[in-house]
Amino acid sequence: MKQTTFDQFQRYVIANYTRYPVCLVRGEGSWVWDDEGNRYLDFFPGWGCDLLGHCPPRVVRAVQEQVAQLIHVPNTWYTEPQGRLAEALSQRTGWGGQCFFCNSGAEANEAAIKIARLYGKPGRYKILCMLNSFHGRTMGALSATGQPKYHQGLEPLLAGFHFAPYGDLDAAARLIDSETCAILVEPIQGEGGVNLPPAGYLQGLRELCDRHNLLLIFDEVQCGMGRTGRWFAHQHWDVQPDVMTLAKALAGGVAAGALIARPEAAEKLRPGTHAATFGGNPLACAAALATIETIEADGLLRRAEELGAHFQQRFEALRQRCPLIQEVRVKGGMIGIDLTGDGAPVVKACLERRLLINCTHTTVLRLLPALTLTDAECEEGCAILEEVLLRITG
Ligand SMILES: Cc1ncc(COP(=O)(O)O)c(C=O)c1O
Repeated sequence: MKQTTFDQFQRYVIANYTRYPVCLVRGEGSWVWDDEGNRYLDFFPGWGCDLLGHCPPRVVRAVQEQVAQLIHVPNTWYTEPQGRLAEALSQRTGWGGQCFFCNSGAEANEAAIKIARLYGKPGRYKILCMLNSFHGRTMGALSATGQPKYHQGLEPLLAGFHFAPYGDLDAAARLIDSETCAILVEPIQGEGGVNLPPAGYLQGLRELCDRHNLLLIFDEVQCGMGRTGRWFAHQHWDVQPDVMTLAKALAGGVAAGALIARPEAAEKLRPGTHAATFGGNPLACAAALATIETIEADGLLRRAEELGAHFQQRFEALRQRCPLIQEVRVKGGMIGIDLTGDGAPVVKACLERRLLINCTHTTVLRLLPALTLTDAECEEGCAILEEVLLRITG
């Protein structure tokens, strides 16, 4: 990468991220280019935000048109794109959700925590969350995150969060008391290692919520918006939440977040309880509408299932001859390959071969490919990953 860029970062950018020494300048579909002209195949575009690949044409066009018309006005006014987006999302929930818009996943979860607290009045404020969850870095979302490593040095956290092992209904039931107002869970844990819910788990949580009058909040920031082959991951298991949060892929790579709630929960957010200056701005909403249009017009829900089946089959077959692979966990375009050891050397070796992947939770290779990935691109990337895994196994 250019020395000037590196120097600017050294001098002027806070070093809170570990960065690869590569400066990306352009993207198209599942490909990105660095400032030296090298091309990389991206199996983790935008950390799950670029569900349609880099610079998806409909999103680019929608943003270009909107940016020339109205970029931002505050929520003291009505705007057409926000109304249209809320309708489009609500219609896809199937449970009459109403929307609050913000700019990120953490912010959407902050809004969910506020709704839960307001719903619990008087007297209830505790939220049951899961171990290994990830809900974001703001102090509320962080307090809900069941991974102590992210809390270190930041205590005291927000009070009232309790944690059950993901997948364990009995433990969840034991942690509910007269002060509990909600259960917050990722239907599929992403950052925690691509963990799929055991049979009956999400329904069991729904039943617990119904029995104790709790809000069931699904964090679909990573697994929602078509990623797994349904609009929202919970639709695979035929269970409905009271509140759901979205971000990442919502606007095809443009920053956007949303909370969608049933009217009984949504009504808790009154003027003065919550707001986001940029939330629901015309630009982000136009991008999100173009994202929804693309998913539908290009049959990408079906493509997510196809890709998932392909990855599952391919890496399950590899597992038979590659002892480094412990388990393959896949739901549509959400793919986890759990290794018996550290995944970092695999990520590094793939980068050297110009394939971009991620490793989470130390041992889990995580792929969140664009649903526009072609069969040829899929083959090219899988072949590299396969080769690297076999070589590292030795
Ligand atoms: C499930 C989940 N919730 C919330 C977040 C936080 O989203 P953001 O980084 O947009 O605040 C993430 C980010 O990875 C996530 O995976």
